Amino acid sequence: MPPMTHPQHEGRPVRVLFVCLGNICRSPSAEALFRHYVASQGASEDYEIDSAGLIAHHQGELPDGRMRAHAARRGYTLDSRSRPITYEDFFHFDYIIGMDEANRTRLLELAPTEEAAGKVSLLPEWCEASPRDHVPDPYYGGAEGFEHVLDLLELCLPSLYEKTRPT
Ligand code: 4NP
Repeated sequence: MPPMTHPQHEGRPVRVLFVCLGNICRSPSAEALFRHYVASQGASEDYEIDSAGLIAHHQGELPDGRMRAHAARRGYTLDSRSRPITYEDFFHFDYIIGMDEANRTRLLELAPTEEAAGKVSLLPEWCEASPRDHVPDPYYGGAEGFEHVLDLLELCLPSLYEKTRPT
């Protein structure tokens, strides 16, 4: 289950960090699509949105070209640069949202405090309608994997918004 207590962020944007392994496929897509959705709701001022990876292997790189191409066909521009998650991220962000169980396990290992560990969830947990309990890694697969990532994000991110937006 996602964190049940609402963080204290009155008077400042809600801070959301999406996390995956490489920060070149799933989490930069989640970042871009969530930013796009939040803007469509007129709520850009209410959110700070970022993404990070659990490995530094792709640091500084744009998202994977295949992910960018599939996203572009749906009208999304992926232009963030890969970076590894930091110690400070666990204090700064209100929600730290991984994509699969391996992400969660590593995030909980890295979390420096109990409070930080309590910020960790997986994206599909925010969406009762999700057909999957994780967002599968598309990196070593074919085109359908990238489309599946975008389908899951388009389904789950509005639900994340409804459950995290400031009231
Ligand atoms: P992501 O996909 O975690 O969705 O960004 C991957 C990107 C790179 C690697 C694995 C998964 N890699 O092994 O380099």
